Amino acid sequence: MKFFVDTADVAEIKELAATGLVDGVTTNPSLVAKTGRDFFEVLREICDIVDGPISAEVAATDYDTMLAEGRALSKLADHIAVKVPLTPDGLKACKALTSEGIMVNVTLCFSAAQAILAAKAGASFVSPFVGRIDDVGSDGMALIADIVEIYAGYLDFETEILVASVRHPMHVVDAAKMGADIVTIPPGVLRAMFNHPLTDKGLAAFLADWKKTGQSILDR
Ligand code: G3P
Repeated sequence: MKFFVDTADVAEIKELAATGLVDGVTTNPSLVAKTGRDFFEVLREICDIVDGPISAEVAATDYDTMLAEGRALSKLADHIAVKVPLTPDGLKACKALTSEGIMVNVTLCFSAAQAILAAKAGASFVSPFVGRIDDVGSDGMALIADIVEIYAGYLDFETEILVASVRHPMHVVDAAKMGADIVTIPPGVLRAMFNHPLTDKGLAAFLADWKKTGQSILDR
């Protein structure tokens, strides 16, 4: 299972990438707006930190402009994945960019039917938004289970399932149980995954007992 981080904050990405656990990065227009920085400058910096797929979203909604924007974004680095919305024009752009050898992440997926379309369009990644589905009183992870099941039945579907809009560690655990390929995790959720009170308590007890021995591992 691959971990992407869902942020455009370069400092956060640098810090989390240092753990060695980060396989890629996803950004979106809202995350870029939050930084208040130049989009291309931010993307260049992210591409230098992480060598896995870096999702960069188009801002247009019509096919021709999406294609032009996708090509412009992809010129930044080979590991840019152009993010397009799950619309008829978006999927048309997905097919065209994919045929040019550019990775495409089809975003804003909220149904299994849409995920089938993304796979048919040859997307490298499809991004179902589990948290936003939960937010409206539905079951986001049930959508992931459906997509995993559907994609497993077709060897010609090469699209990876990128679980997005993650809100808490249990989304990651459930995605792992279902065999989703990738989870894009907000920095706060990734940090929360490390935490357990019994780890803290156990470590404190081990350190206290070790102190009593008066020994040092390095002074040998
Ligand atoms: O990057 C897409 C997705 O992860 C957005 O998440 O929290 O805005 O629903 P959120």
